[in-house]
Amino acid sequence: MDMPPPSRRDFLKSSSILLASSGLAFPNILRGAVSTAKLKVGLVGCGGRGSGAANQALKADPNNILWAVGDAFEDKLSASLGALQNNFKTQVDVPEGRQFVGLDAFQKVIDSGVDVVLLATPPAFRPQHFKAAVAAGKHCFLEKPMATDGPGLRSVLETVAESKRKNLGVCAGFCWRYHPGMRETFKRLADGAIGTLLTNYNTYNGGAVDRYPKWNRKNTTRDLEWQLRRWYYFSWLSGDSIVEQACHSIDKMAWAMGDKPPIKCIGHGGRQVRSGEDYGNIFDHFSVVYDYPNNVRCMHASRQINLTAASNTDSFYGSEGICEINGSSKQFAIKDLKGNVKWRYTPEKSDMYQVEHDEFFASIRASKPFNDGDRMASSTLLAIMGRMATYTGQEITWEMALNSQERLVPEHLDWDMKLPVVPVALPGITQFL
Ligand SMILES: NC(=O)c1ccc[n+]([C@@H]2O[C@H](COP(=O)([O-])OP(=O)(O)OC[C@H]3O[C@@H](n4cnc5c(N)ncnc54)[C@H](O)[C@@H]3O)[C@@H](O)[C@H]2O)c1
Repeated sequence: MDMPPPSRRDFLKSSSILLASSGLAFPNILRGAVSTAKLKVGLVGCGGRGSGAANQALKADPNNILWAVGDAFEDKLSASLGALQNNFKTQVDVPEGRQFVGLDAFQKVIDSGVDVVLLATPPAFRPQHFKAAVAAGKHCFLEKPMATDGPGLRSVLETVAESKRKNLGVCAGFCWRYHPGMRETFKRLADGAIGTLLTNYNTYNGGAVDRYPKWNRKNTTRDLEWQLRRWYYFSWLSGDSIVEQACHSIDKMAWAMGDKPPIKCIGHGGRQVRSGEDYGNIFDHFSVVYDYPNNVRCMHASRQINLTAASNTDSFYGSEGICEINGSSKQFAIKDLKGNVKWRYTPEKSDMYQVEHDEFFASIRASKPFNDGDRMASSTLLAIMGRMATYTGQEITWEMALNSQERLVPEHLDWDMKLPVVPVALPGITQFL
């Protein structure tokens, strides 16, 4: 690299400078009476979450129109589009000429005349798709996480900066940030309800994840198709479960820490029970300790092993109290140090996935598109850093993770390429790059 490596301080500084310099250029769609204008939405990645995001985007405003869709595979595209056409008869306008299949489908969706793109492929592709969308001046909804490696994350940071220069909206699928009860809870934490935050322990523990039984090695002969169909199990595509899934817990930790980066982390984990080539090279458990300034220590644990205790919880311990969040039952409480409940969130009927789209499209229509870019990049890097520490068995600083040269995602892909599976990491032997 020609430039000196970015540091924790640079990361914070550049975020705030960029924030201050946003609000200059407005894309054409934002000029004039935009509130009732049709906003054309393009979907890239027509799987479970992409289809869900398209549903929410269309529900967010009757003048939002699904205009183009793209997926690596035709069967995924047809199934998703068929369901969306059934659900939203007048809001889906996607003729055959705007249905794109293949690895370049994202560019065709972006170039089809859309105003907003929903990026919901496996996360390995997010940096490339986000960069192309922002280069073309599109507002973006991006599912979490935003990258799987250091080069991808740095690309996302550059694109975030570009999106701010262009005043484009960026909404991140770290959906808990849009949950009304979680917002109430984190506001109380920020206002000092438990005093000074000392420690956080967050968990994402569940059973084994068994996806895509149909697409096994026996009946999917091309390496790339096999791995894309089963993307969850390959570290280059998903980032491993700590990045792909448990990043939600890590994002809540980051939220409580004011989205300031930690100093370093250390991790333990492995692949104890998961086995077989169809399950790629990801681990089945992680335990990471993050050290923040002022002796604040945050601990993350995640596991995907059947017949083990499940929990999706976040406990924050402060100098004057405790905050306990149960993500499964949606119970959130603040207690004093003796355990007496001082405040409890009364669950209300709300859908955080819908809230994020409602707020995002409203902000675009009000010509004040918001930008989650900095915090989505920061939370993604936190999770990547935890994986790096766990895979290598080494202490990893924020600067090391931010400047990592390990490139998991191949620069060029073609359907007939040989794509050997990288061996499962071995702490102590796997090197940090
Ligand atoms: N916020 C949440 O709570 C939440 C929940 C589930 C999934 N997600 C995230 O959403 C993303 C997608 O997950 P999913 O569960 O929908 O997976 P999925 O497998 O159901 O869908 C992924 C889709 O992307 C397509 N695809 C793969 N590579 C592509 C490429 N290069 N170009 C175009 N299309 C491509 C696949 O064919 C598939 O249709 C992941 O990043 C995941 O972490 C977020």
